[in-house]
Amino acid sequence: MYEGTNKLVWDYFASIAAHHLPTGLHSIRVGKTAQCIGDALGLDGVIIHEMGLVHDIGKKAVPINILSLDMRPPSKEEFEIIKTHTRVGYDLLKDVLPLHACIAGKHHPTYAVAEYPLLLSIGDRVFVDVCVPIVTLCDFYDALMTRHNTAYTSTNRRSVASIRELLEKNFPKQKEQIDILLGSTIGPYVRKKRIA
Ligand SMILES: [Fe+2]
Ligand SMILES: [Fe+2]
Repeated sequence: MYEGTNKLVWDYFASIAAHHLPTGLHSIRVGKTAQCIGDALGLDGVIIHEMGLVHDIGKKAVPINILSLDMRPPSKEEFEIIKTHTRVGYDLLKDVLPLHACIAGKHHPTYAVAEYPLLLSIGDRVFVDVCVPIVTLCDFYDALMTRHNTAYTSTNRRSVASIRELLEKNFPKQKEQIDILLGSTIGPYVRKKRIA
C-alpha cells in the first residue's frame, strides 16, 4: 500500500481488481499517471492517485464477459450496460468518499453524472473540476495504449507524435497536461519518479 492512501480507497480498489483484474491494473496505471500530472501541477497527487484507483469502481456491476471484450468494440446493447458504470460508481461512493465519487461519476464526459454529493464544499467542487479532466485524459491514454480492438488499433503503439496528435485533438485545452503525460510515461520524468 502506498503511504498516505486511504484504507477505504484500497478496499474499493481491491474489490474492482477482484471482479476484473485488467480493470484493476488499468486503474493502477491511470492513478499513477494522473498523480504524475497532479504533482507536476502542484496539486494533491495522493488524492488524485486515489481517484484513479477507484474511477472505474462502477464496473463491478458490469458482467465480466462484457468487460473482457478486447478484440472488438462493444455492441450497442453492451455499450448501454458499460455506460451504467458512472452512475453505479458515483452512487456507491457518494456518501463515503465524496471526492472520489465525483471522478467515478464524471470521468466520461458523454455519460457523466451531473450532480455533486451534498457533502462536498464549494472548494471541493472546484478541486474536483480540476481533477476530472486529468483523470479523463489518463483514462483515454491508457485505453489507447493497452486495448486491442479496432476502436484503438489505428494509432495504438505508433509514434509518440501520432499519439500526441490524437490526444491534442481529443483534449485541446490540456496541452500542458499532455506534455507532462507523455514525458512521464515515455521520457525522463517518470524514470526519475520510479527510481525515487
Ligand atoms: Fe470508465
Ligand atoms: Fe477507466
